[in-house]
Amino acid sequence: MRDVQLEITALEDQPFGALVRGWDPSAALDEAARDDITKALADHVVLVFRGHRQPADEELVAFAESFGPLIKGSEWLRDAGSKPEILPVTNARDDMGIPKGTGGAGELEWHADYSYVPQPAKQSFLNAVELPEAGPRTCFASQYRTLETLPDELVERLRTLRARHSVAEYVEGGKDPNRQQLYKGFEAKRKRDEEAGVQRPPIPEAEHPVVLRHPDTGRELVYVSKGLTREIIGLERSESNALLKQLHQHATRPDAVYAHEWEVGDLVVFDALAGLHRRDSWDPHQQRVMRQLSTMVG
Ligand SMILES: [Fe+2]
Repeated sequence: MRDVQLEITALEDQPFGALVRGWDPSAALDEAARDDITKALADHVVLVFRGHRQPADEELVAFAESFGPLIKGSEWLRDAGSKPEILPVTNARDDMGIPKGTGGAGELEWHADYSYVPQPAKQSFLNAVELPEAGPRTCFASQYRTLETLPDELVERLRTLRARHSVAEYVEGGKDPNRQQLYKGFEAKRKRDEEAGVQRPPIPEAEHPVVLRHPDTGRELVYVSKGLTREIIGLERSESNALLKQLHQHATRPDAVYAHEWEVGDLVVFDALAGLHRRDSWDPHQQRVMRQLSTMVG
């Protein structure tokens, strides 16, 4: 007999996504509830947990960990706190003025979490701790749907291709002031670590098939993004860019996107392989603090 049943309902008037009520952060997740969530993720890609009390760091880690081993992304971003599994997604700065976690209040381009890692994220957990007065939204697209709505001949071709993913090139590249700001913050953290003699693992990059089969659902999805996929291997640069642009435009057409409007306390759990996402910019004078965790593909 189960004490609490999670109430899961599809979001109204949205292309996908579901609302989850009834989660108790202090109760260990039983197997039946975990299976319900895994099934709901397969069906809806994005799950918005709302109406519960704010979980403590330990509770958030315990909840996410019940879905698989967690990525310690804060080490690559040189900001590992007492819980390296929790990546601060924030524009907050420390006493020295060095950005914490991901840094910056700029727009974040479409990406799949940790696609630049050989074992990328399978599920991600994003929790709103502190929000600015206005926005920013996080927008999601389903890469299952991208694949299902592409012409068969194109999907056949995509199945033969692999792509290279890199976050370092995203941060270092171009004249975009947001990205330059991210780079500056990262350099400041690198210097801080050097002076303190702290060793951090180098930021990885990775190659993945353009069409992945999801290990849980067995369904195929398109696994490239404008933010993190740098090239399709073996194609001329112009052809690679054109194909990536075509896939990006198709995946993110407005009627295929769910735009999440955050409330403090929201925990959005999403399929990190199929759940492509981006974030709006916000007023950099206002603070936004989010906690992010991700399981890794086994
Ligand atoms: Fe992300």
